[in-house]
Amino acid sequence: MIEFMNGRKRSLYCGDATEKMIGKEFTVMGWAAKRRDFGGLIFVDLRDRTGILQVVFDASKTGEHFAKAEAIRNEYVLCIKGKLRKRSDETINPKLKTGTVELLASELSILSDADTPPFALDDTSAVNEATRLKYRYLDLRTPYLTEILRVKSEIMKVTRDYMSESGFWEIETPFLGKSTPEGARDYLVPSRVHPGEFYALPQSPQLYKQILMISGYDKYYQIARCFRDEDLRANRQPEFTQIDMEMSFVEDEEDVMCVAEGLVRNIYKKVVGKNLPAKIRRMTYKEAMDRFGSDKPDTRFGLELTDISDIAGKCGFQVFENAVKNGGSVRMINAKGFGKSNDPILSRRDIDALTDFVKTYKAKGLAWIAVKDDGIQSVITKFMSEETVKEILKRANAEKGDILFFCADKNDIVYASLGALRLHLAEKAGLIDKSVTDILWVTEFPLLEYSQEEKRYVAVHHPFTSPKTEDLPLLDTNPAAVRSKAYDLVINGQEAGGGSIRICQREIQRKMFNVLGMDDKQIEDRFGFFVNAFNYGTPPHGGLAFGLDRLTMLLTGTDNIKDVIAFPKVQNASDLMTMAPAEVEPKQLRELSIKVNEQVK
Ligand code: AMO
Ligand code: AMP
Repeated sequence: MIEFMNGRKRSLYCGDATEKMIGKEFTVMGWAAKRRDFGGLIFVDLRDRTGILQVVFDASKTGEHFAKAEAIRNEYVLCIKGKLRKRSDETINPKLKTGTVELLASELSILSDADTPPFALDDTSAVNEATRLKYRYLDLRTPYLTEILRVKSEIMKVTRDYMSESGFWEIETPFLGKSTPEGARDYLVPSRVHPGEFYALPQSPQLYKQILMISGYDKYYQIARCFRDEDLRANRQPEFTQIDMEMSFVEDEEDVMCVAEGLVRNIYKKVVGKNLPAKIRRMTYKEAMDRFGSDKPDTRFGLELTDISDIAGKCGFQVFENAVKNGGSVRMINAKGFGKSNDPILSRRDIDALTDFVKTYKAKGLAWIAVKDDGIQSVITKFMSEETVKEILKRANAEKGDILFFCADKNDIVYASLGALRLHLAEKAGLIDKSVTDILWVTEFPLLEYSQEEKRYVAVHHPFTSPKTEDLPLLDTNPAAVRSKAYDLVINGQEAGGGSIRICQREIQRKMFNVLGMDDKQIEDRFGFFVNAFNYGTPPHGGLAFGLDRLTMLLTGTDNIKDVIAFPKVQNASDLMTMAPAEVEPKQLRELSIKVNEQVK
């Protein structure tokens, strides 16, 4: 049954057929997406990566090839020659780009037959994700995924054009490198030649790109694969792609932000025809945290945080007073109109459920005050004087129908809880205008944060990020207060990219390692090659990396990172199509001098 193409060459992609081509002969190739048989007439929707074209086999016109068309089933691969004609008015399909035309077939070759697919490809919305990922090659045939991967490819093209025109060279860096634990967990690759030794897959090309600056390459970029063995969330994959860049002789953050901004502008304009605002806002980390409880604020809606620690510190409610006394804070969100008497957005039961919601961010509770038509409702106001309650309501600009939510705790818990609550409430009330592209830079990140777990300071960005010059003296006295020259580009509440001006003086780099708790031996073992390179002439430099997958999510409007990766991994980091990771032959393990602990399996 299977035939060859008989020397025919494709002369048209399905999705490209237009009325202008009517009357001409074409050869198309693709998959049978759908087939309807009306006896003397057979209709086949032919699919390729550009779209779908209806093909008609007419017993009276198609001739000897008509009989072959009767054998066509879904997903058969076909080569069809025919003449493009206008569809009759009643058969026009407005849902299809090519819906006003069809190909009247004169010749047919069946290039491949196909088993019945495990799920219908015309609507996969109800098919469970595990099944779709197992048969990813079929899922990838759907116009939804095809379009996303086309957009991603276009982003990469625009990136290469823009970076190259801006004087950047694309330079590859190794996958097999040295483990430099800091940040996420490394993926390790055992060496056969050096028993007991391991390469690490790069979490990013950070050290290599800085060394390229030391080598004088001036402007580097790379569309780079990165590997991080971390807990997966909606916008994280263990292997993902960065648009990575680094440049020398930069004076300050603005030099890098300007190039990065130009790239994002080009991508939005050329890939989806969208003009970004002429001036992209800058917001300090402190302002972002204080107003939105997040270093990646979604500013498409209000529900901002308000600090009431000054009032709460002496309000009579012990929970609030203690939080302030212990160096934390009490902050609130006014959920404006969420308790309207005629049509409340939050019922009493919803409000109780929000307590469980914030507990996942380590909050101990969620206090609230509802302003009703006939006064206020709350379990905490009984601890406070009337004056205090009034003061709080005034600070919140509270009106009838409003519900105020309070969190009292250490600052990081208050920010995390109320920042998440804010997003949750906005989703629930439909406050987010998804047609808006909300874009801003967050600047002046803290350089260090204290890790209770590790009992030492850790780098907020990475150990090569430069402190703000004016904050340098604080490195000795109050490390947590040092601001850095780091910046993130935030789009619609997602961290699309981040980078920094780097440390370029060896004494400061050494001091930074020391503040991070590394002694000279540890510095030498982990970063010796890097510190040595510093000794041979280091230009001032800085850079940034965008998450290509996240940019693609933003441009295509999906909130599932698996949609933008051809062969993604699931939550537990396995690939359901290839079933990686998998056991290997004992011989392979012997060669690597590795023994698996059978008890752990
Ligand atoms: P950072 O760690 O912030 O910086 O990463 C840069 C960008 O990469 C994206 N990203 C991810 N995307 C998908 N899955 C993941 N697991 C994942 N992790 C990060 C984000 C993020 O903004 N070397 C520095 C950059 C620099 O300083 O130049 C770095 O890697 O969009
Ligand atoms: P309790 O006195 O523990 O019954 O708490 C009274 C109210 O305060 C309840 O609604 C709790 O959810 C809330 N609450 C408890 N701890 C906190 C906290 N740390 N921050 C905000 N509200 C809290």
